[in-house]
Amino acid sequence: MQPPTRSRLLDAIAVRFRADFGAAPFRRFFAPGRINLIGAHLDYNGGDVLPMAVDRGIYMAIRGRDDGRIALRSLDQTLTIDLDAREVGERTRPELGWTGYPLGVWQGFRQTTGVNRGFEAVFAGDLPMASGLSSSAAIEVVTALALDTLHGTQLDRQQLALLAHRAETGFVGVRCGIMDQFASALGRAGQVLLLHCAGPRWEHVPFDGNACEVLVLDTRKPRLLAKSGFNERVAQCATAHEILRTHGRDLPHLALYSMGDLEMAKSAMDDTTFRRARHVVSEMERTRKGALALRAHDYGGLGALLNQSHLSTARDYEVSCDELDVITAAARACDGVFGARLTGAGFGGCGIALLRPGQAEVVAARVGPVFRERFGVDPGFDLLRIGTGPCEIG
Ligand code: GLA
Repeated sequence: MQPPTRSRLLDAIAVRFRADFGAAPFRRFFAPGRINLIGAHLDYNGGDVLPMAVDRGIYMAIRGRDDGRIALRSLDQTLTIDLDAREVGERTRPELGWTGYPLGVWQGFRQTTGVNRGFEAVFAGDLPMASGLSSSAAIEVVTALALDTLHGTQLDRQQLALLAHRAETGFVGVRCGIMDQFASALGRAGQVLLLHCAGPRWEHVPFDGNACEVLVLDTRKPRLLAKSGFNERVAQCATAHEILRTHGRDLPHLALYSMGDLEMAKSAMDDTTFRRARHVVSEMERTRKGALALRAHDYGGLGALLNQSHLSTARDYEVSCDELDVITAAARACDGVFGARLTGAGFGGCGIALLRPGQAEVVAARVGPVFRERFGVDPGFDLLRIGTGPCEIG
């Protein structure tokens, strides 16, 4: 993928804004997407995750309106919306499509702050859409920041993240954890977020871009089963947690149990439930070790944990697919690759590889043909850098 430059994107947004809503002034904002280094499917299990905001995301131009209406456009989507703000209900509707994300944030913002003003906005992104890099969280966070700044309501970054998360779970109806919205809202240049989802509490851990880079491996496989498969995993984890609570210690989250606890409750679980829980408990251990490896700048150690994580998400959690298995295995076989795994929810979308700086082109040149030979599709490669958090663009 060759993304448009930031200035070209901002120019294109301005052109669309003027065409649809008339002359300036408007204000512009940005929120990043994320990749998750390790901690797969731990956020909704009260575990630790290690995401980083990337240097791509969603841009937004916005202006308040005093006629009680909301109008939304995207350079990446054909659907446009012009509605009376009073028509925004408590849940999204199929005909609202992608606009459910910003409308959900607007609804939550109104309920939290009492500000009831309409707005018009144009969005555009330089992230591959719906591929597991959290374009939806970026849309939510950029909307939350823009509304907050426009109205001087001074919400802090955690409040913005929670507003964004509520839009996704309450309004749009995906039972996701808090990782994506927190990763976007709390992103910091040169740092990875170590988020303890049980709190939530967080720390920032330095990532040395001169010692390690992150290459996105895009299978181009649509994540068709992502929503149903995701919600099914959430339900299976809740079942495992319930069994553990009644057969041993009563802990508030599945990720907080040990392998010993799991072994003791094993006979009360069916095989699938046991394997889902084993992924969660072992991934928590890997993520803790991963954070230590990151602090020690041990990228080889971190990479090995990524490889184990992939295996566990594939075998025990069953959210991988042939495309993700092949692309990550081909990357692992290359010199200079520390490790590789799927990122995001899985079921298609992207993997990531950690590699020595300067290796990306060689890896792409070796992995591309292997993947094409097997699936007849050219995968995408994208070297992502750590981005900043969300901001207004002056
Ligand atoms: C999706 C969800 C996140 C998280 C990941 C899996 O991206 O939105 O909350 O659960 O899957 O780690």
